[in-house]
Amino acid sequence: MSKTAESGSTAVDPASIPQRTLYTGATMPAVGLGTFGSDHVTPAQVANAVKGAAAVGYRHFDCASVYGNEPEVGASIEEIQRGGVKREDLWVTSKLWNDKHGENDVILSCRKSLADLRLKYLDLYLVHWPFPNFHPPGCDVSSRSADAKPYIHENYMKTWRKMEELVEMGLVRHIGTSNMTIPKLKQVLRDARIKPAVNEMELHPHFQQPELFKFVVKNGIQPIGYCPIGSPGRPERDRTPEDTAPTEDGVIVEIALRHGVHPAVVCIKWAVQRGQTPIPFSVHNYRANLENVTRDPLTDDEMQEIAKLDRNCRLIKGQVFLWKDGQSWEALWDVNGEITPP
Ligand SMILES: NC(=O)c1ccc[n+]([C@@H]2O[C@H](COP(=O)([O-])OP(=O)(O)OC[C@H]3O[C@@H](n4cnc5c(N)ncnc54)[C@H](OP(=O)(O)O)[C@@H]3O)[C@@H](O)[C@H]2O)c1
Repeated sequence: MSKTAESGSTAVDPASIPQRTLYTGATMPAVGLGTFGSDHVTPAQVANAVKGAAAVGYRHFDCASVYGNEPEVGASIEEIQRGGVKREDLWVTSKLWNDKHGENDVILSCRKSLADLRLKYLDLYLVHWPFPNFHPPGCDVSSRSADAKPYIHENYMKTWRKMEELVEMGLVRHIGTSNMTIPKLKQVLRDARIKPAVNEMELHPHFQQPELFKFVVKNGIQPIGYCPIGSPGRPERDRTPEDTAPTEDGVIVEIALRHGVHPAVVCIKWAVQRGQTPIPFSVHNYRANLENVTRDPLTDDEMQEIAKLDRNCRLIKGQVFLWKDGQSWEALWDVNGEITPP
């Protein structure tokens, strides 16, 4: 631990943060800061958290055009570099939104994120969802898009070719997928010239996705875990009665008491020790989340206890992507082991 110049407070030495090695040989900090402010955290607050997080040692930031705050976050990223952090020591991710899958939109969208984030290149650019779909930001889960389309592999690969071009142009160091399933990834791995370096997926103690997790690791793809705490701050409209909260799980609470930390911190420690890269969002607790991944690890017994808590409880179900009347959200996730037919 060292003192930060800005605040005089204790910071985590970035060199002590665990790293993941991608198949290219590049390394990525094994914990990042999420930047989706949801309904209740303004772009200015998120941008402020990005600066504060960098001051306490974060070097990995998970951004997306749809979060509506890349210009503000970009100003913080510029300030962080002015303060002495080198560009090569930062890891910045952004994502292509669903209404920009068109062949003429991918490069333009990436350039817009780069301009907003005030960067010459991104470390990672993801296809945010495998479904091309416009729906207004903030719409209800029951809202359906008239132009919603199923996953059509040929079309996804047209988008992917443009993602590959971004790497060749030097605008992006790595490309990856998000919200994918094993059947979809199998086809992408078969047809990609540049294979995905990461897959971003929902991962927390109540939704461990063991098969997909194993599949991506076996294929040399790093799993990045979103909603690592179970997204306690997500909007009401994104909640369903069957959702559970990992931070309220008795086992997690007990382990947290034993370690003298918040249950959210146990979720982050578990994620890093299991091998995924959690990207917890936080404007108030980011320091604790980072500090605790560098000390007082969970024991093997505690890791095993948490492994048993999986409830297959997906929180981000993606209902707005459904393309047919009467479909249930499970259709989006290929639960029968094959890509759900159109
Ligand atoms: N690829 C995708 O499709 C996708 C989908 C969803 C999310 N994401 C990414 O994943 C990130 C994380 O997901 P998320 O924001 O939904 O949920 P999350 O990280 O699971 O939960 C964030 C919430 O946890 C609270 N929190 C964080 N650390 C805490 C601690 N130590 N003690 C107590 N409370 C704590 C935060 O409150 P405070 O702010 O008060 O600390 C915030 O309300 C997003 O920001 C986004 O970057 C990606």
